[in-house]
Amino acid sequence: MIRLKFLLLHFVSIIMIGLTCERNAALYSVTPKSQEQVRYLRTLDLNNGSLDFWVLTTLINYEAHIKVPVNDVSNFRDDLEQHGMQPTVVNPNLTSCINYTRSERFARYNSIESLDITKTYLRYNTMNQYIDYLGRKYSDIVTISTVGSSYENRPLRTVTISQQRNSFNRHTILIDAGIHAREWLAPATALYVIDQLVQHTDRNRDLLENVTWVILPLVNPDGYEYSLMKDKYWRKNRHPLRHCVGSDANRNFDFHWAEKGVSRHECSQTYPGPKPFSESEARVVRRLLLSKNDSIMFYLTLHSYGRYLMYPWGYRKGLPQTWRTMDAVARAGSAAMKQSHNVNYKVGGAGKILYEASGGSDDYALAVAQIPIALIMELPGDERGFHPAVSKLQPFLEEAFSGIRAMALKVMQIMV
Ligand code: ARG
Ligand code: ZN
Repeated sequence: MIRLKFLLLHFVSIIMIGLTCERNAALYSVTPKSQEQVRYLRTLDLNNGSLDFWVLTTLINYEAHIKVPVNDVSNFRDDLEQHGMQPTVVNPNLTSCINYTRSERFARYNSIESLDITKTYLRYNTMNQYIDYLGRKYSDIVTISTVGSSYENRPLRTVTISQQRNSFNRHTILIDAGIHAREWLAPATALYVIDQLVQHTDRNRDLLENVTWVILPLVNPDGYEYSLMKDKYWRKNRHPLRHCVGSDANRNFDFHWAEKGVSRHECSQTYPGPKPFSESEARVVRRLLLSKNDSIMFYLTLHSYGRYLMYPWGYRKGLPQTWRTMDAVARAGSAAMKQSHNVNYKVGGAGKILYEASGGSDDYALAVAQIPIALIMELPGDERGFHPAVSKLQPFLEEAFSGIRAMALKVMQIMV
């Protein structure tokens, strides 16, 4: 009897996995060869609700990545071919399935001390436990603070790392990550930076001299948990609206709010919220950007994917007067990653090389908080898009850290 029950349960769970793991979309790559083709892709991005553009730039000869539902594949191919483009399949089997990386996704560890953060993506609670553990173990240089909470009331916590005891520090580096839920590599990278700074002080002593690091590893924990557990491709936060759930917190900042690269449809991936700073997660980042006013010399916001290092403006194609300084810092980062991992990051103004999109935290940091160097880093992805296989986690984290390290040193050289 017990056995029968077990078999039955087993059977039911197989059916459920079968259902949730249905293959329902494919990942396509296409490389526009003219400005006209670039423009056409942008039109599709803005007007075709069923296509999800994961990577798209304004530059010709740069690959775009598009998630296409199986039912739309033939239309999609036809449309592109009519415009002289031949899309190729990167991954025929994108699934919204939440089971197939389950074993990879959940850290198996006996104690928090033995957790290896380079081997798996972490749940929000595990991240917090890990941060707390570091706070206890390295209490001489690490301070954990709760700086606000998400819509669903998850505490948002920063890790401050400083060798200067209670002296006001005018040289702060602020890093945040995970404002977009599905970009799993971003919070993983922020945690890795924390780990390098506190557990490997021997190698990174130079990064702590006269500098305070404030790191918010997960801006949008509600969305992140939803992406891990329910819908991998979830991007926004989890604030319910009238017809749909979620606003894009990185369109919610009050600088040219809702002017460019947003959609007024609640259900869109780039819905900027009902009004500026309507979203708790964006307000928390605002508070951090403003609170340390004039002590923050460098704000770095981590996203994925596509390997870009970009600076304002995001809301328009033009560049701020001070772009050269930011460009020099970004180029130090990209050169370091070329050297250490032979990868190519594209560097430039966000609105220029990616697309115009207003209400982002990077623009706000520069324009309103007047932080002199504000960069956005789009970390790598792979044929799984936003969720690289866990076997790639370690090399991707090391690659990113080599870039972040070089950028921090460059900033210190300029500002300290
Ligand atoms: N992928 C990022 C986003 O869509 C890029 C943002 C670039 N910055 C900007 N202010 N537009 O949010
Ligand atoms: Zn993003």
